[in-house]
Amino acid sequence: MNDVRVGVLGVGRIGQMHSELIARRAEGASLVAVYDVFEESAQSVAAEFGARAAASPEELINADDVDAIVVCTPTDTHIDFLVASAEAGKPVFMEKPLSLDLSEVDRGIAAAQAGGISVQVGFNRRFDASHKAVRDTVASGQIGEVQMVRITSRDPAPPPISYIDGSGGIFLDMTIHDFDMARYVTGSEVVEVYATGAVMVDPAIGEAGDLDTVVVVMTHENGAITTIDNSRQAVYGYDQRVEAFGSAGMVASDNPGVTTTSKRTATGSAGSTIPYFFLDRYIPSYLAEWTDFVAMVRDGAPSPVTLHDGRAPLVIGLAAWRSVHEGRPVKTKEITP
Ligand SMILES: NC(=O)c1ccc[n+]([C@@H]2O[C@H](COP(=O)([O-])OP(=O)(O)OC[C@H]3O[C@@H](n4cnc5c(N)ncnc54)[C@H](O)[C@@H]3O)[C@@H](O)[C@H]2O)c1
Repeated sequence: MNDVRVGVLGVGRIGQMHSELIARRAEGASLVAVYDVFEESAQSVAAEFGARAAASPEELINADDVDAIVVCTPTDTHIDFLVASAEAGKPVFMEKPLSLDLSEVDRGIAAAQAGGISVQVGFNRRFDASHKAVRDTVASGQIGEVQMVRITSRDPAPPPISYIDGSGGIFLDMTIHDFDMARYVTGSEVVEVYATGAVMVDPAIGEAGDLDTVVVVMTHENGAITTIDNSRQAVYGYDQRVEAFGSAGMVASDNPGVTTTSKRTATGSAGSTIPYFFLDRYIPSYLAEWTDFVAMVRDGAPSPVTLHDGRAPLVIGLAAWRSVHEGRPVKTKEITP
């Protein structure tokens, strides 16, 4: 069977990683073209991975030798590229978040429907084997009726302030993964959000209008309650844990160690450090995204992470910001485009 020939838009931090996975490791996909406004990046990624640097995004999207488009550009450009790909009738892999603006998301969804294209959104944590096992255990009924989900998600260090400015703040940039995880694990939509937060890590984050330490409590349609805690700075690494508790038991994912070494002395015990950040922890999950993308594009499998799955966490994130600003629980149905 022929490979899905992929073109990547935006080869910064995440676009370079996806380019490498597609070119070197993903089964059934090959990298044919990349485009970046920073031409040098495009040239060097293209040269490294045996692809060509396209002259423009339009040229890449409409090229005869490109079957599918991967959008890894800054968030505010995502929907324009989705619309252009839909007009070209080509399937798309979209990095999260779809946009910071709900009406823009709806414009993208309308265009994708009109173009009849399939789209996969880059919520990679669904593809992490440990978190997926939590979800599969819940879905199988082994822990009975799910009553609570607890998600801890802490970065090792905050991003530069320049990044925070265009990111939509912690809820739309970082917690959005956890909002997706909550929906994924419970299989139930979120109906109410109460969020609170503080600036404990760096005052400059507060001056930029953001928070670096947050807790979110959410109620799902099925009555389950999810709590999320985030910090922009966990000095011990990238802390990623999910626990589901139900009427017949619990199931949890923990952090893997960097090594399997454990040490015991007269004064105590110690284990390994945990992975430092997302590229250290989640490469297998990003690779697994490509397996499903190939199945979707080549074999007509359903999208594993749909545009609806991309839209719902944005609604939750907007509700979280409103909750912080107004100091009250916010129903997700209050959030409209
Ligand atoms: N799923 C994940 O775990 C994950 C991780 C990191 C980033 N992301 C998402 O990926 C997107 C990119 O993030 P990043 O960290 O790689 O950012 P980045 O700034 O490192 O990379 C963005 C790249 O896009 C290029 N660019 C800017 N405007 C462009 C345009 N109009 N056309 C083509 N190229 C353009 C920039 O020159 C840069 O090389 C964001 O939406 C971010 O939220 C997802």
